[in-house]
Amino acid sequence: MTPVTPVSLRCAHLDNPLGIAPDRVRFSWQLAGGGLQQAYQLQVIQNGRVFHPAPTPVWDSGLTHSADCADVPYGGPPLTSGGRYAWRVRVWDPAGTESAWSDPATFEVELGPADWTASWIGLGALREHFGPPSQPGRPDPVAMALRPAPHLRRSFTLAGPVASARLHVTALGLYEARLNGQRVGDAYLSPGWTDYDQRVLYQSYDVTGLLRAGENVLGALLGDGWYCGFVGFDAKRAGGHYGGSPELLAQLDITLADGSAVRVVSDAEWTGRSGAIEHADLLMGERHDLRLALPGWDSPDGRAGEGCDGTGWRPVLCRERDGRVLAADPGVPVRVTAEVAPASVSRTADGTHLVDFGQNLTGWLRIRASGPAGASVTVRHAEVLDADGRLYTENLRTARQADSYVLAGGPAVLEPHFTVHGFRYAEVTGYPGEPGPGDIVARVAHSDTPATGAFESSEPWLDQLFRNIDWGQRGNFISVPTDCPQRDERLGWLGDAQIFARTACYNRDVAAFYAKWLDDVTEAQLPSGAFPDIAPRLNFPGAGAPAWGDAGVIVPWTAWKMYGDRGVLERHYGAMTAWMDFIERGNPDYLRSRELGHSYNDWLSPGSDETPHPLVASAYWAHDAALMAEVADAIGRPGDAARYRELRAKIGAAFAAAFVDAAGHLASGTQTAYVLGLHLELIPEGSRAAAAGHLVAAIRAADWHLTTGFVGVGYLLPALSSTGHTDVAYRLLAQRTFPSWRYMIDQGATTIWERWDGWSQEHGFQSAWMNSFNHYSLGSVGEWLYRFVLGIDQEPGTAGFGRLLLRPHPGGPLDRAQGSYQSARGLIRAGWERAGGRFTYRVEVPPNAVASVHVPSADPAGVRDAAGGHPAAVAEHPGLAGAGAAVFAVGPGRHEFSGPDSQASR
Ligand code: BGC
Repeated sequence: MTPVTPVSLRCAHLDNPLGIAPDRVRFSWQLAGGGLQQAYQLQVIQNGRVFHPAPTPVWDSGLTHSADCADVPYGGPPLTSGGRYAWRVRVWDPAGTESAWSDPATFEVELGPADWTASWIGLGALREHFGPPSQPGRPDPVAMALRPAPHLRRSFTLAGPVASARLHVTALGLYEARLNGQRVGDAYLSPGWTDYDQRVLYQSYDVTGLLRAGENVLGALLGDGWYCGFVGFDAKRAGGHYGGSPELLAQLDITLADGSAVRVVSDAEWTGRSGAIEHADLLMGERHDLRLALPGWDSPDGRAGEGCDGTGWRPVLCRERDGRVLAADPGVPVRVTAEVAPASVSRTADGTHLVDFGQNLTGWLRIRASGPAGASVTVRHAEVLDADGRLYTENLRTARQADSYVLAGGPAVLEPHFTVHGFRYAEVTGYPGEPGPGDIVARVAHSDTPATGAFESSEPWLDQLFRNIDWGQRGNFISVPTDCPQRDERLGWLGDAQIFARTACYNRDVAAFYAKWLDDVTEAQLPSGAFPDIAPRLNFPGAGAPAWGDAGVIVPWTAWKMYGDRGVLERHYGAMTAWMDFIERGNPDYLRSRELGHSYNDWLSPGSDETPHPLVASAYWAHDAALMAEVADAIGRPGDAARYRELRAKIGAAFAAAFVDAAGHLASGTQTAYVLGLHLELIPEGSRAAAAGHLVAAIRAADWHLTTGFVGVGYLLPALSSTGHTDVAYRLLAQRTFPSWRYMIDQGATTIWERWDGWSQEHGFQSAWMNSFNHYSLGSVGEWLYRFVLGIDQEPGTAGFGRLLLRPHPGGPLDRAQGSYQSARGLIRAGWERAGGRFTYRVEVPPNAVASVHVPSADPAGVRDAAGGHPAAVAEHPGLAGAGAAVFAVGPGRHEFSGPDSQASR
């Protein structure tokens, strides 16, 4: 047998982070070679990676009896700010066999306030150029607000070769750091969006290889970004949302080969000017005049006379650091994760090129063009076309999403720096000649959260739905989880985030992404304890609505559930309890009918939204209380857990008294009322089956259509499946007429729409006022595909996928489904097929995990594993009326089970 070895070492969900706050230092690893872990030993050393001959570790956990391999907190003496550490781990299996030590991994600790000597620098509000000319005589307020991107530079000389160097850098606004003519790192839209009035994230880069003895140039381009550009739907305030003009903060710490230290910081020594970027704005787009480019401005080898020391360069405005917190970025950078070639390029009658990328995505175009100086190329972006085959941009509201370029003569690569668009189609005006292969490409950009989920089935439309859900996530995870990536909104709406969170975690590794955003959520909390509707809060006042504010409990709980991350719970526990106290103060009768903020209720449910607001609100409050009890238990607060269970019982009783009758009917009778009641277990046990029957009746009454909006949709199919109605769940899933997921797909959707009827055959486009074609909320059905169709789930009450519950729910038109989830412990695979009257389920359990496998069958006792082994037990299958399940207990490895199909008569 292969010996067990710890691999994939990560600190705070990141690979070898170069800047991590000391209180976030928590370790995780996976086991290669299968097997279980009974104990581990972890060692941390400072300065250097060589453990042998061993320096004295700053922390040695000693042999620790625990199966934990995720979220193991550092337990040594305080870590030094800016310190460099290496760590390694070894494990013992249940037989007491010791593994080899892992390869070392590293982490570097966040700088403390005293470690910063840099100052904020910028150029103030540059006014050299304005945006595209507006109509004569009518000033264009948008163009008036747009400004050129500052170029900032500083040259310095190093006396000898460099041993190591770190660039710590951030901006109020966005930055692109340059060193000796090269881009530093591959991130975009850095430093990301936080409430800049309180906290600014900075990034650290290893720039050792970019420096040299002799002259060097450190430079930066700045964009307005979320700090002082257009954001959200309220017109930008005169001074921007947070400030008036972008500023840079940079600190380059160099160790020379002779051991001496050199530091270069942003200070009054820098100079700056504008260049080719006439404006750059997240919502509006970018405009470049390449004739104004500054060749070599960021390099000592450039034509310094023209680019750097000639006219236009002037001393920067410099000010001391203020009270804002500077924090190492705990999240993941926005990166270009794919390039998409056009599916088609066609010439329109007026001579423009219409490019279809075949996929609604988020990013921008890179264009190669060659044309005369002064020629201009303009790109407009849209998600859909109108009836005449032209870009439909009305739904963008005031967001222009247009990039334009004036050529300098000769070949050029046209690409924006500081903007992002949501689009499937682009209209390119003024392209000189005909673009050849590779001349126009879409670059897909989003927070770099690697895929962890896969799904494939016998139905192509279902696979398309799965892809649409994932594309919706990619397009909307951009520093914060946004509602949509295209119109003048793009805000971190909490309601959308919570309903989609579990799906998001299955689809992609969002552990570090949520770690970052949950700080935004807590930071946006009101003094009353109310979580907000959006985070960062921007200037959106008031308490969060039911199902929106509740994200402050649900998303941390989800991160714990999926990643075993107790750290996130400890970090936010105070904020979560303050939210619970806020609701309870306002609603002493345990019905949540007050302090409902904007109460969006079951937002965008098709038809009229008749579910009583206090029903939705109280259901979510009960949910919070149940989750808080689990949270308190997970972080060792049994007293609090008992208190939250008691609270949950009181809300449950008040809910039942107010909204449920003896025959299991729920007030209003909407699908969402039943879905919430059932899924959140708010219906007395004795009435549950009857209530599930009423839900099915409500669906039948809608001619087998759903009527759920954002709040009900995520729980709809799970509620059906956990009450024996998986057949109805499949019926809704496969429904082709409006409203349904498949209806969107039949209309050509490649992402998830905001509204069930974003476009319909009868009415065309929904109101342009609110009609995004890339909104992930209704994609929260993804969770059901993983947990129910494939059956990749966990034993109730457990977290981090150490104890799996693999229980598939076959049904509907599917002959087979297979997929996987890359969990904290490793890859989980599950797939089933039905053929020749037999049902076969194949699974793979990762190392250091055990699984209870429930194989549905018409004759559970007749199910066998691949070796002919009998089930350990026979149980009911709660999701499939009429089927039982053969139960097997298995450990790491691949397993196959087969038995008489529960639907052999199909
Ligand atoms: C957003 C939603 C959000 C909602 C609040 C909309 O404008 O796009 O996704 O949750 O407002 O009701």
